[in-house]
Amino acid sequence: MRIIKRVAEMQQYALQLRAAGKTIAVVPTMGYLHAGHMSLLDNARPRADVLVVTVFVNPTQFGPNEDLDKYPRDFGHDCQLCEAHKADIVFAPEADEMYDKNRSTWVVEEELAKPLCGKSRPIHFRGVCTVVSKLFNITQATVAVFGRKDAQQALVIKRMVRDLNMPVEIVVAPLVRDADNVALSSRNRYLSAAERSAAQVLSRELLAAEPLLAVGGVKKALELKAEIAEKIAAAGGKVDYVEVLDTENLGELTPDSKSVLLAVAAWFGATRLIDNVWVDFIR
Ligand code: PAJ
Repeated sequence: MRIIKRVAEMQQYALQLRAAGKTIAVVPTMGYLHAGHMSLLDNARPRADVLVVTVFVNPTQFGPNEDLDKYPRDFGHDCQLCEAHKADIVFAPEADEMYDKNRSTWVVEEELAKPLCGKSRPIHFRGVCTVVSKLFNITQATVAVFGRKDAQQALVIKRMVRDLNMPVEIVVAPLVRDADNVALSSRNRYLSAAERSAAQVLSRELLAAEPLLAVGGVKKALELKAEIAEKIAAAGGKVDYVEVLDTENLGELTPDSKSVLLAVAAWFGATRLIDNVWVDFIR
């Protein structure tokens, strides 16, 4: 496995690979890798000749009062996991290698990025779209795998790729949960034992809602939204949002909606967690 830190080296190597007819699968991450990330590597591995994992804590997707400075890092462990899951390349640039001081170009998606996390994190998806575009250009990705854990992010990226005609296939892989059903996340390490056990309310409520949503339709979805917010608050979480939206456009559900994204974000102590279920209505 090769570790590359320089943008020019990564891009030149990727261009050589593509010129030789190779396909390239890319899994973008911010490191501090866990089994959720590894499921993306395993999903991506058979999709291309070369598997690139990017490890980059992207400063432009963090707001001024967010956790950029304390975002957890363990590059040695990340590389061990990538090697064990058959990555060929880990691309891990520093921030000043990725971003020029006088950079002035952004990639902005203006519809799907607005609700949910876009409300409380107004510059977040601009940073994500910009860095993912850069990573696609640098790695010459032919296919890229993202997790359903960040359902909105995956939708925003798919839209960006479609709207800007990027020649990259986007694959969205299932959300992976820990033994106690909490969605795996690098941010879980911030939680105290008490916060961790309180945080189980998210998956408990979402997984209980899943079968009810499938048969209950739009009316049930709106009822559940209010109930779940109450349960999270009762467990000691501070709700950022509980939303039921149409998966097509992240707009309000309508009688024609085919599937629903039930998405939550809540604070447990100083840690903001997200979780979701994606449910097809049974008619
Ligand atoms: P990060 O939070 O490190 O996540 C990298 C990828 O792993 C994302 O596609 C995310 O959805 C997926 N992932 C994380 N936890 C998961 C879980 N429990 N189950 C399944 N997939 C999971 O998302 C980012 O980094 C960044 O925004 C990035 C796309 C790299 C751009 O900077």
